Amino acid sequence: MTVSYQSGFGNEFATEALPGTLPVGRNSPQRVAHGLYAEQISGTAFTAPRHENRRSWLYRIRPAAMHGSFTAYTQQQFHNDFGDGPVTPDQLRWSPLPLPGSDATAPRVDFVDGLFTMAGNGSPAAMHGIGIHLYAANADMQGRFFYDADGELLIVPQQGRLQIDTELGVIELEPQEIAVIPRGIRFRVSLPDGVARGYVCENFGAHLRIPDLGPIGSNGLANPRDFLTPTAAFEDIEGEFELIAKFQGHLWHASIGHSPLDVVGWHGNHVPYKYDLRRFNTIGSISFDHPDPSIFLVLTSPSDTPGVGNMDFVIFPPRILAMENTFRPPWFHRNIASEFMGLIHGAYDAKAEGFAPGGCSLHNCMTGHGPDAATFETASNADTSKPHYIRDTMAFMFEARAVIRPTRQALHARHRQIDYQQCWAGLAKHFKG
Ligand SMILES: [Fe+2]
Repeated sequence: MTVSYQSGFGNEFATEALPGTLPVGRNSPQRVAHGLYAEQISGTAFTAPRHENRRSWLYRIRPAAMHGSFTAYTQQQFHNDFGDGPVTPDQLRWSPLPLPGSDATAPRVDFVDGLFTMAGNGSPAAMHGIGIHLYAANADMQGRFFYDADGELLIVPQQGRLQIDTELGVIELEPQEIAVIPRGIRFRVSLPDGVARGYVCENFGAHLRIPDLGPIGSNGLANPRDFLTPTAAFEDIEGEFELIAKFQGHLWHASIGHSPLDVVGWHGNHVPYKYDLRRFNTIGSISFDHPDPSIFLVLTSPSDTPGVGNMDFVIFPPRILAMENTFRPPWFHRNIASEFMGLIHGAYDAKAEGFAPGGCSLHNCMTGHGPDAATFETASNADTSKPHYIRDTMAFMFEARAVIRPTRQALHARHRQIDYQQCWAGLAKHFKG
């Protein structure tokens, strides 16, 4: 099967896998072409302003209502129980989540079973906040389909490709690309490379969008035409399948007698999409000082306070540092926002070691952090009359307005680096009064 995409962000797309599927001039004709059912899925309130409004019309073999009763599904590592007790202000860092083995005796772990919740804030019930998860998997989702009623899923692969078959079409994804699956859209993940690992931000709040550009102008950062939404693709398969739902923080499953990926044509703007982070047009200083990382904003989920994100997705891509007489790595800082970082590829320029691809860190509101001692010494003595090329890197941050609360399992995980704070212990006193 050839996978194809439509280009643009937030468009009113229209696509059909069989000619003549989409009704013309209306959404719900008395009888839909090819004997299909018409069904709407809304991603925003019906009366949301037009520029915010998200909904799609699906023309499918069977309606989404057809499945058995849901019962609780046990996958205790994937949830939204972020707790309401004390939360440590410590700097936290983790090594990569261990991959399940790939030999024949290893347990088979698919994308849903491989999700491990690290942290989060807010709640799906309140419809604001985020869940932050890692995944490590070694098996395709076979005969099972998943949807998340609690939020849209921003998927950030770090190792291994993903094939994401969704109701609206197929997305092929590789590390350094991201995908967003909208709230409610059913999908199945397969692993072309046999194993896969990465990060997922589950966004309970307003849907992600590309930011306003202000004085940058009409181009730059993530350009709209580089976002790709799949064309319609469907399967007409019957069998004993499983539909897994995430609903109000926990998983449920039901039997389903057919593949729900049976949408023959659709139109609308509540759609999955992918984006290649290597296409990000990086903006930076060409005089002095290191700008705020808001210049690296790819996607933002706004809160109800202007300029304050429920979640901002920021990347630290390859770039050229040309600022003169400047400490070029990220400066030492404490922010009101809380920062969960991950590394997709290469090395991150504020840490000499310990932050591996697949690893992650959490620096919460007003927690001091910044370059480690080795990076500080190197950058303080670098020749800034010459540009510095950072070629081999792709780090990212899920930045949130509210404190990101690590889960118990994250704090007690074997992959936690309990000595992380030592990376600053070697910062020498240079003061001469
Ligand atoms: Fe930071």
